Amino acid sequence: MSAALSPDADAALARAGEPPAAAGPADEGGFGVYVHWPFCRAKCPYCDFNSHVRATPPDEAAFVAALKREMAHMRALSGPRRAQTVFFGGGTPSLMAPATVGAILDAIDAAWPLTGDAEITLEANPTSVEAERFSGYRAAGVNRVSLGVQALHDDALQALGRMHSVDEALAAVALARAAFERVSFDLIYARPGQRPEQWAAELKRALGEGCEHVSLYQLTIEEGTAFAKLHGAGRLVLPDDGLARELWDVTQEITAAAGLPAYEVSNHARPGAEARHNLVYWRYGTYAGIGPGAHGRLQVAGRRRALATERSPDRWLARVAEAGHGLVGDDALAPEEEGEEMLLMGLRLAEGVDLSRLARLSGRPLDGGRIAELEEEGLVARAGDRLRVTPEGFPVLNAVIAALAG
Ligand SMILES: C[S@@+](CC[C@H](N)C(=O)[O-])C[C@H]1O[C@@H](n2cnc3c(N)ncnc32)[C@H](O)[C@@H]1O
Ligand code: SF4
Repeated sequence: MSAALSPDADAALARAGEPPAAAGPADEGGFGVYVHWPFCRAKCPYCDFNSHVRATPPDEAAFVAALKREMAHMRALSGPRRAQTVFFGGGTPSLMAPATVGAILDAIDAAWPLTGDAEITLEANPTSVEAERFSGYRAAGVNRVSLGVQALHDDALQALGRMHSVDEALAAVALARAAFERVSFDLIYARPGQRPEQWAAELKRALGEGCEHVSLYQLTIEEGTAFAKLHGAGRLVLPDDGLARELWDVTQEITAAAGLPAYEVSNHARPGAEARHNLVYWRYGTYAGIGPGAHGRLQVAGRRRALATERSPDRWLARVAEAGHGLVGDDALAPEEEGEEMLLMGLRLAEGVDLSRLARLSGRPLDGGRIAELEEEGLVARAGDRLRVTPEGFPVLNAVIAALAG
């Protein structure tokens, strides 16, 4: 980006004739900006993210212009805020030219001045073509990348429909570590036929790369994907519950021993290296979501609004041209809905949720009897005002949340 990221966001806001963003309930959990880039080179058979494959590359300049217009609309809704984090997610944002990323960051900085230490993450696929652009992204202002490595076995990568080999992915990790202060990568485990001892070796090798953060996702079968068809036909068999639990336990043990314990169900980091953008979601902060199929949560006139944009890139472009934004969903959340969302997000974190903030948002405290029952079963623990899920509770997190929210 041309101008350096705002070293002093308050001063930037003052220059713009605006007061600094008020510290208040809306600031709890922080504020970030999510940008969705909806294109991929090929569709992976397990993935149900909003991603589209095009025969010809999209017109990046047209998207930048539309993203800027949509940003102006979201800025009008959010009021003046400083952005502590930006996340380019996809799809495959690493298909964008670095200049495109720079132009989007400039526009974000103009709308919501970036704090001097803002975390700016870009999701990248670890192919050699994309790794060539890393230094360009760094020069554009990106300071963290998240690479979709997915597996460290070539046959597994092939089965997952990936367009890179293990060697290529590890070369991309090395290039990323040279270009960025902060690097994370994703692996998918609990794959068909995977044994705990194989996964343990693969995970140890991955942690040996020395990154500060890893996201470890159990393979899930998402409706409408190629894997869902295979699974439905009995041609793709996932580990049963017992084996999945063993794989989970191996994951927790090995990451903790390596100094990257889980701070969220699927996310592991050295203390202090947590993904601050995702923490905005999990700590129930507010965020603007820009681009096709992006979600946002903004505090508008004292109410939290749930915002969602059109998923189809072409229809999104047309809507923005017509209305100045691509919103297809804009709902003011009722207090109990806010409470449910905060609980759903916060219990994913090892640190848990703040019960008094939860009661303030939802208008009523959580049922003390239910908490006591779950505590008795060893699934949650309470310390003062915080409620957190225990290591025994995490493998059955959905049931714990349902019991508390019900
Ligand atoms: C938006 S996608 C990744 C971005 C990038 N396009 C890539 O593929 O590297 C985010 C991550 O979600 C994970 N993921 C997507 N679908 C999944 C599924 N069905 N089961 C488990 N993990 C999944 C993958 O690890 C993936 O890297
Ligand atoms: S996993 Fe990544 S590359 Fe594959 S389809 Fe999904 S978003 Fe695209």
